[in-house]
Amino acid sequence: MQRNRVKKAVFPVAGLGTRFLPATKASPKEMLPVVDKPLIQYAAEEVVGAGVDVLVFINGRNKAAIPNHFDKAFELEAILEAKGNKKLLHLVRTLLPPSATCVYLRQAEALGLGHAVLCAAPVVGEEPFAVLLADDLIDGGEASVLEQMLRVYDRHGGTIVAVEEVSGQEIERYGVVAVQPVTEQVFKVTRIVEKPKMEDAPSNLGVVGRYILSPTIFRKLATIQPGSGGELQLTDAIAALIGEEDVWAYRFDGRRYDCGNKLGYLQATVAYGLKHAELGGEFAAYLRTLDSSQLQQP
Ligand code: UTP
Repeated sequence: MQRNRVKKAVFPVAGLGTRFLPATKASPKEMLPVVDKPLIQYAAEEVVGAGVDVLVFINGRNKAAIPNHFDKAFELEAILEAKGNKKLLHLVRTLLPPSATCVYLRQAEALGLGHAVLCAAPVVGEEPFAVLLADDLIDGGEASVLEQMLRVYDRHGGTIVAVEEVSGQEIERYGVVAVQPVTEQVFKVTRIVEKPKMEDAPSNLGVVGRYILSPTIFRKLATIQPGSGGELQLTDAIAALIGEEDVWAYRFDGRRYDCGNKLGYLQATVAYGLKHAELGGEFAAYLRTLDSSQLQQP
């Protein structure tokens, strides 16, 4: 069956990022760098690499940082040009390919992820679309998670949430799905709940920050009430879709780093430092010099 192609990706970047204060006081969490690229750059590369070229950013109070990152930097380019630094000039000029279009919208108040996604409705219209939470940095290996999900979408259509197995009490921080298996990695979602108590969690499959959503989600988001944490929850709108439209969970291939929390961010920094083309070797050598006494907590 020929499906409506996913042409737009929405990046909600209006969260308060309180777990990262004071780093996020004047700059969105999605601008935190992992080695030498901000989180939002990794997510944008995932999107354009998957063939999606309209990028819709839902900005919050520090609204300038992300547009500034992707905009042309005339002064910087002039200086690099004068210095003959072709390598850096190329780097800053090619953060996105010319085929990419950026749209910036504003979420005036951080009323929740669901509300942020609803802000994209006038731009997305009646099309399926992707949502990426850039603070979930996912190394998908050969194919990014979005690419993997688009393949699932070609086959199954509907709405797709990326999931991973979460152990123990950690599950209480996730949207959690009840499922029926379809294949080894694709599941039909029969129920979804936001941040359940461990004893009430319908499975150990937690939703992470990659979604392909049917446009029907906007009608659901417009009618749901604030949920967990008093916020408009995307999970609750997806719950309202179940039974009306297909909702699938996809257990992706890859390693996810939750860069919205400090430990996940440090883990990502080590992993991406080690695989960095210029730094990896030296960084690995440095880590090998750390002996057990240095790895003790002071
Ligand atoms: P989080 O749940 O991580 O919340 O948001 P947060 O506010 O960013 O961070 P903490 O918990 O205070 O540390 C998940 C995603 O939803 C976006 C965030 O930017 C992040 O990508 N978001 C959240 C919005 O865009 N708007 C909101 O109102 C809430």
